Amino acid sequence: MKTATVHFLLEDLLVQAPVGTSLQAIADASGADITFGCRNGSCGTCRVRITQGLEHCSNMGTEERDFLQGLCVSDDERLACQVSVLGDLEVDYLGL
Ligand code: FES
Repeated sequence: MKTATVHFLLEDLLVQAPVGTSLQAIADASGADITFGCRNGSCGTCRVRITQGLEHCSNMGTEERDFLQGLCVSDDERLACQVSVLGDLEVDYLGL
């Protein structure tokens, strides 16, 4: 099984998970300090900056894109509850 490494910068926590796992599931299982509210892309509490490996995130869905565009955020920001991990990532938690 192919794995990816996620580096949560806030805690300097490195976690390995199978490729395709949701970032939300990895954060929950590892205890990474990301706050999840709605878990469906509509509240923004799980907003993160992908500082490395943005190309290893699943594509943005319409709901996530609309939400983030409404906040006028930079292109490297995602909602952790909407991302599947396709390769190594470095993640910085921002929150809302
Ligand atoms: S938990 Fe609400 S947008 Fe991710």
